[in-house]
Amino acid sequence: MGVTATPMVHMSGVQKWFGDLHVLQDIEFDVAAGEVVVVIGPSGSGKSTLCRAINRLEPINEGEIAIDGVPLPEEGKALAKLRAEVGMVFQSFNLFSHKTVLENVTLGPIKVLGKSKADADKRAIELLERVGVASQAGKLPAQLSGGQQQRVAIARALAMDPKVMLFDEPTSALDPEMIKEVLDTMVDLAKFGMTMVVVTHEMGFARTAADRVVFMADGRIVEQNTPDEFFTNPQSDRAQDFLGKILKH
Ligand SMILES: Nc1ncnc2c1ncn2[C@@H]1O[C@H](COP(=O)(O)OP(=O)(O)O)[C@@H](O)[C@H]1O
Ligand SMILES: [Mg+2]
Repeated sequence: MGVTATPMVHMSGVQKWFGDLHVLQDIEFDVAAGEVVVVIGPSGSGKSTLCRAINRLEPINEGEIAIDGVPLPEEGKALAKLRAEVGMVFQSFNLFSHKTVLENVTLGPIKVLGKSKADADKRAIELLERVGVASQAGKLPAQLSGGQQQRVAIARALAMDPKVMLFDEPTSALDPEMIKEVLDTMVDLAKFGMTMVVVTHEMGFARTAADRVVFMADGRIVEQNTPDEFFTNPQSDRAQDFLGKILKH
């Protein structure tokens, strides 16, 4: 060993402002291949902006971001390719409402990766089976439950063969009985070695699936540790205060 592998996600010296608001401050953040990182922190701390910066949905003002050693391109074809390598799943499922479940999953592979319809369909069915919604392939998103739609969104992201998956509060909009089926799908992905950055308030997921917990407050990474260490022995006042509030419920 002794060789330092290229991190799958690399952020260094990242600064981001919205007007006067300094929303990402001095971000130093690497994610290793196969690592599962859970990002937690109070509302407004910059978690979504961090995720959006990683696939350049938000441009940054300073610093560098690289995916698997390749710096984020500014725009054009290279950016479309990069976006394909970084799968993103949002709180709101963002499926195309007038396309079937199958079409939602095959659109990107056909348009962006140039796959044939037959190849895209075959892979889409495999992925829909994997997330447990293959029987819904011919339906429109509105005919599915929220949990099923979110699993389709996960399959859609996976269909692009991403190097890393970002999840921004993927279960926050779901009814309680549907949260587990989505988290189970994510645990499964983690077990298969997917590199994942997950913003979530689901501390059970963080404890069982995360290799590392990153705590953000006011645009900064305040501390990070293994889940065990972080939850039993938070170092900063901010993290202690935050955990005190969320773990009481
Ligand atoms: N498009 C935007 N324009 C202006 N301010 C924004 C925008 N998006 C987010 N913000 C602000 O940036 C800060 C961080 O937001 P966000 O990354 O969404 O935090 P979190 O996901 O942790 O709740 C918040 O103060 C939020 O109000
Ligand atoms: Mg957010």
